Amino acid sequence: MKNTIENNLRVWDREYPWTRDGDEWDGQARLCGRPYEAWKHSVVETFIAPHVSTSTAVLEIGPGHGRWSKEIVDRCQKLVLADLSPSCLEHCRGVFGDREHVSYVVTDGRSLRGVADASIDFIWSYDVFVHIEPEVVADYLAEMRRVLVPGGRAIVHHAGRRHAFLPLRTLKRFGERGAQLYNRLSLGRRDEDDGWRSDMSRRRFKGLARRNGLRIERQIDRWGRNGEFGVPRYRDAISLLRRPEEDSLPSEALARSAQSNPDTDRG
Ligand SMILES: C[S@@+](CC[C@H](N)C(=O)[O-])C[C@H]1O[C@@H](n2cnc3c(N)ncnc32)[C@H](O)[C@@H]1O
Repeated sequence: MKNTIENNLRVWDREYPWTRDGDEWDGQARLCGRPYEAWKHSVVETFIAPHVSTSTAVLEIGPGHGRWSKEIVDRCQKLVLADLSPSCLEHCRGVFGDREHVSYVVTDGRSLRGVADASIDFIWSYDVFVHIEPEVVADYLAEMRRVLVPGGRAIVHHAGRRHAFLPLRTLKRFGERGAQLYNRLSLGRRDEDDGWRSDMSRRRFKGLARRNGLRIERQIDRWGRNGEFGVPRYRDAISLLRRPEEDSLPSEALARSAQSNPDTDRG
């Protein structure tokens, strides 16, 4: 199944059962050999807590049923939840509805229309971009630059297939066997599915971020003492991005620079 906006909308809005509101996704913790709660706590302490305080405006892209939003909501000044799925945002509204500093934006799947220019200090997105096709990732990166304040940061979890094997994505046209071969080469594993990972490598993500005016500060797949925690499943990665301090282009110029830069294929 392709990683299109339409398929993401259908799956997450209507088909997925959300048995534990996102806490059922314990595969990364299991592969690290750590209890899920310890792994989740390490994600919060490593990636969220250091960037969020009571003066921080936070945007979460793809909150789903609020697995991470619940960890952010009491730490920040303002929380914007932006998701393609109206039913996910409805669920979040049920959880946070009475909180005045939380707002909700239904996206078109590729833009952050409804989020003002330079209004966000920190963007968080986990388990979302892993399923989004590169062309759409590029559009979102341009939008992240627009909504972040100069100097603001984004932390994005994304797919990390082996870059050299991305051109072999065309094998998927040849059915199950072709897809299996592509997955084995680009993910380096057998027998399992590909977790519906998009055709993204670390290098390709880095290139797209740069081309859209964001600085990559780090790409991480392990953290904690001796790398005890991480996102090793499906070779995932987490990128720390920054809108440069000196970047204060007005939004029309940002929109032009994104449009003049549609290439998403050279990593
Ligand atoms: C696998 S769920 C993850 C939910 C949550 N981030 C978590 O970790 O529990 C993917 C979420 O991303 C949202 N999503 C998928 N594609 C999107 C897109 N193009 N734009 C915005 N949200 C998207 C889905 O609606 C869903 O809420």
